[in-house]
Amino acid sequence: MTSDDTTRRGPYPLLFAHGLSRLDAEQAHRLTVRALATAHSIPAGPALLRAAFAVPDPMRDTRPVRWALGAEHRSPLGLAAGFDKDGEVPLALLDLGFGHVEVGTVTAKAQPGNPRPRSFRLLEDRALINRMGFNNHGAQALAKQLARARRSERGQRAVIGVNIGKSKVTALEDAAEDYRFSARLLTPYASYLAINVSSPNTPGLRDLQSVEMLRPILEAVVEEAESTRVRLRRDVPVLVKIAPDLHDEDVESVARLATEAGLAGVIATNTTIARPDSLVTARERIERIGAGGLSGAVLADRSREVLALLRATLPDDAVIISCGGVTTAAEVQERLDAGADLVQGYTAMIYEGPAWPGRIARELAAR
Ligand code: FNR
Repeated sequence: MTSDDTTRRGPYPLLFAHGLSRLDAEQAHRLTVRALATAHSIPAGPALLRAAFAVPDPMRDTRPVRWALGAEHRSPLGLAAGFDKDGEVPLALLDLGFGHVEVGTVTAKAQPGNPRPRSFRLLEDRALINRMGFNNHGAQALAKQLARARRSERGQRAVIGVNIGKSKVTALEDAAEDYRFSARLLTPYASYLAINVSSPNTPGLRDLQSVEMLRPILEAVVEEAESTRVRLRRDVPVLVKIAPDLHDEDVESVARLATEAGLAGVIATNTTIARPDSLVTARERIERIGAGGLSGAVLADRSREVLALLRATLPDDAVIISCGGVTTAAEVQERLDAGADLVQGYTAMIYEGPAWPGRIARELAAR
């Protein structure tokens, strides 16, 4: 590591190399969330956190913002779903410099997820494989957390998307009602809703991406969003999050269905079940890890392809959130130039540390 690295990234590379990366990936993640929650809970915490990462105060920042999904985004880069599944620290994550945070995936019923270990680092690839299996405290608990986060003026302005998935115990044919239940509880607090039918770790979930199975789910969630619009006079855009493993024709079918069903757009993509040849991690290690979704830079090529397909298929006013393998400001800009309205990342934050979102926002603003 050079001194230039230390200036740009702070002490995180050292902390990662000698501390966090030696812990089980999930344990390191829990520690990080707890540290953020503690830092944010003290009275001057939010201001200190922003000062530490050179993030402007969102209530006073007068720089131009990006408008998308009916909200002001202070950066085009948001945090993808899965980091803050239970909505414990959305405002602290925004104070690191993300433009939006997508909490969840949350399911109608609380569930423990898969046995541990279930999250693995591929250090040489700066990638992760996870088979968490939607461990979460359930939609009701998330609604409570978000109600608390929304109490302040700052919280009301925060862009917090809510990602919902199917409970493991719910049969695939009852999926629409399961999603509807979560949507009903959560639309009042959501800047937007993301329907997750693309995680590889709930048996059968990705089959819900077929047009026949997906239609009733999209319709049920759109109905709930519509009823919130009537009751609270607030639009809650609905998006669907898709897998990079769909064939091109299926990406196009889902895009057309999303338009027909009145969705605002598509989030592309989730993790992949593929294990590309470009991975440098030893094959035996990858085989030993076993099943799960792969994320990180190896996903970038397919994610860009899916973005291009979606932009060509969806109407111009449909929103695309591009996700998968984004690490640099140049990559964020490339996705925006290719027609994305917003961009998300997750894995890069694990390797780059908490200064990452603020650094990307500054680099993009300077362009
Ligand atoms: C995820 N991702 C994810 N996606 C989702 O829709 N719901 C979820 O609960 C999770 N959980 C989750 C856990 C872990 C440990 C990882 C690494 C990822 C997928 C994530 O939101 C994103 O789509 C992919 O990780 C691709 O982006 P990156 O990581 O390459 O930037």
